[in-house]
Amino acid sequence: MIQSDLRAFLAEVEKGGELKTVTGAHWDKEMGAVTEVLYRELVDKAPALLFDEIPGYPKGFRCLYGMMGSPLRLSLTLGLDAGVSARRIDMLNAVRKKMKSFEPVAPREVNDGPIYENVMDGDDVDLLKLPVPIHHEHDGGRYIGTACGVITRDPDSGRVNIGTYRVQVRSKNTCTSYISNGKQGRIHRDKYLSAGKPCPMVIVVGIDPVTYMAARYTLSDKVPELDWAGGLAGRPLDVVKGEITGLPFPANSEIVLEGEVSATETDLEGPFGEWHGYYAGDARQEPVINVKRIYFRNDPILTCAASQKPPHSHLFERCFIRSAALMDSLEGAGIPDVKGVWAHQAGAGRTFIVVSIKQRYFGHSTQAGLVASQVSPTGYIGRWIIVVDDDIDPSDIHDVIWAMGTRCDPKTRTHMLDHCWSSRIDTMVTDYDRLYNSRMVIDACIPYERLGDFPRVAQTSRELAEEVRKRFPDVFG
Ligand SMILES: Cc1cc2nc3c(=O)[nH]c(=O)nc-3n(C[C@H](O)[C@H](O)[C@H](O)COP(=O)(O)O)c2cc1C
Repeated sequence: MIQSDLRAFLAEVEKGGELKTVTGAHWDKEMGAVTEVLYRELVDKAPALLFDEIPGYPKGFRCLYGMMGSPLRLSLTLGLDAGVSARRIDMLNAVRKKMKSFEPVAPREVNDGPIYENVMDGDDVDLLKLPVPIHHEHDGGRYIGTACGVITRDPDSGRVNIGTYRVQVRSKNTCTSYISNGKQGRIHRDKYLSAGKPCPMVIVVGIDPVTYMAARYTLSDKVPELDWAGGLAGRPLDVVKGEITGLPFPANSEIVLEGEVSATETDLEGPFGEWHGYYAGDARQEPVINVKRIYFRNDPILTCAASQKPPHSHLFERCFIRSAALMDSLEGAGIPDVKGVWAHQAGAGRTFIVVSIKQRYFGHSTQAGLVASQVSPTGYIGRWIIVVDDDIDPSDIHDVIWAMGTRCDPKTRTHMLDHCWSSRIDTMVTDYDRLYNSRMVIDACIPYERLGDFPRVAQTSRELAEEVRKRFPDVFG
């Protein structure tokens, strides 16, 4: 059963031997550092880390890192067979199958839930009563929102969106957030602010895995994302309606902030150690979020994502989330015979994308590469897009580099694109009034006209390999 309650999910993770409780680590850089050092060593074999007894905070006020960062934890999140994880591409196919297997289910509005166990209201609101971390040594401050869900409503269509956007604490009751231009939450926020109105906002900073998945998965702006989360869970999410904003949020969330983004006040935001491994984009003025109420469960869990130079604790699942959504987009754009894609972990799940196709016509590989460079979710801060034939496993970097080195003529089979969608956190953007980047599509497919007579691959045939395995069992063990 897919768990839409974080505690029930963590109980299953613990049963699977992948939950480690760490006591005594400080909110000031230590939790982030412990997580980074462990994930750098173990990558997707590292357990989820639940920090407790954080200095200065009551026992039971906890922080969680690495919620979905292993084959087991991603399988539990999506209700996949744990056995599908042997090859990345097999697991990606299972993820995609799951994502296509359900229809959205509207949430059920309830009047009560665990989230009401504690409420700080008005002058009592104090964000620092929660163990908000400084995740990295050079962050601009304490970030309460990292593995979070920011809920907004489109003032025109009424559609509710949830997206994961970082949120920095600025005072006991104010925050700032960095939402990239073009993200759905940003479009909603800008519609209110440009009309001179405050933007109602709910920020779920102790989030369950299903809602977190909805916040991260790139969905069309037609799909109400809490409905999508209910579809994934296989039952409606129980939501309560915030009294201040009228926005819905899951009734069993761990910690929720409710308030509004000011149309007039700004404050500093950043810098923050980001997913690509840099503190890029400086500290900039962003609209102030006035937090009017904080809800939290007894012994609340603040869900966290410290991103660093890859690999880091939320990259494993990101590669699947991005790759699955890119496959959807390519299919949706009518590109035939896409056999696989992979958003590589070393490219932080964004900057190095490989698309594998069975070539059917002249120009097919160019078409696939150019479309992959622009559609969601890879259209934002992309850099390198490599197109390979279907005998290449896109998730196998050795295969990919071999194809680039033997099937691509850089002078004639690369395409440069300029003025593409970027952001101030892009390391190569220096002019914050011109948030463009460039990218390159590398066609590493055998030229279509040479498919029939390209040199034969020097690799032992499957038949001969099987034969020698049988004849020399001592060699192969
Ligand atoms: C841990 C984590 C942190 C993120 N932080 C940000 C952020 O600070 N700003 C941003 O624009 N996107 C951020 N993203 C990416 C967005 O959440 C992602 O693009 C998502 O699809 C956006 O939702 P939307 O399509 O509803 O806008 C983050 C993603 C993750 C997983």
